[in-house]
Amino acid sequence: MRAPVLAAAGLALAALAAAPALAQEQPSIPTQSWSFDGPFGTFDRAAAQRGFQVYEEVCSRCHSMNLLHYRDLEGIGYDGAQIAAIAANHQVTDGPNDQGQMYQRPGRPSDAFVAPFPNEQAARVALNGALPPDLSLIIKARADSSLTKDIGGGADYVDALLQGFKEPPAGMTMAANMNYNEYFPGNQIAMPQPLHGDDVQYGDGTKATLPQEAHDVATFLAWASEPMMEERKRTGAKVLIFLLAMAGVLYAAKRQIWADVH
Ligand code: HEC
Repeated sequence: MRAPVLAAAGLALAALAAAPALAQEQPSIPTQSWSFDGPFGTFDRAAAQRGFQVYEEVCSRCHSMNLLHYRDLEGIGYDGAQIAAIAANHQVTDGPNDQGQMYQRPGRPSDAFVAPFPNEQAARVALNGALPPDLSLIIKARADSSLTKDIGGGADYVDALLQGFKEPPAGMTMAANMNYNEYFPGNQIAMPQPLHGDDVQYGDGTKATLPQEAHDVATFLAWASEPMMEERKRTGAKVLIFLLAMAGVLYAAKRQIWADVH
């Protein structure tokens, strides 16, 4: 009676052990060091501005960032005149006017980022049926739950994803219009490789290599997904300092009050 049970258990164990070998080899996502890591981390303004340039010139052809307004760019160090110029570069649909017509006008700082497509269907028609997700919160959406990495986990992933396009391994059949990416779950992604290096000309003279561009745009997206992070960390530090000082005061008071009791 016992032998069949043992044999069945053995088979089950063997099946379990074999399962991981069937799945595609997925390398683990490299951990990067980010300016915004840790309890005192801040956003590297220069990197975030370079990343915004990458978003503007490359990613914004397909991806919207609906939660951002041009005036928000103050948060990564642009001044009012620069923001007005950036906004004016975009055509915004406004109206209706007195004739009941919608019309186009140059963007203003108070406008939301102009999206590349008017709606989801238009995006899908242009991109073989695929839908590029809005990038406003993508870093948070892909962050792991590790408390020590915070939004750094999501930035690691986006950074790796942008550099993870490869030829598919021999024997792997790709679905139509799909691209092989070693970090994308399942390895088949509808996004064609967006960055190759030298996709932009950085104003500050930084060389636009692929890792540099990926790191910069991930920094910009991390800021976009949590623009109040620096304030949150500062408040946390102040609260801790206050609690420490208060603990000292209370301890001194306790010693004073109990000094005569033996
Ligand atoms: C030609 C259009 C196109 C461009 C340009 C483009 N993307 Fe995408 N992207 C897509 C599509 C389509 C998807 C959806 C892929 C899927 O679900 O298979 C996508 C998905 C993504 C995702 C989500 C991946 C996930 O885990 O779900 C991220 C992050 C991303 N793109 C970042 C970027 C960044 C950053 C840039 C600019 C450097 C960029 N994309 C440029 C079309 C584009």
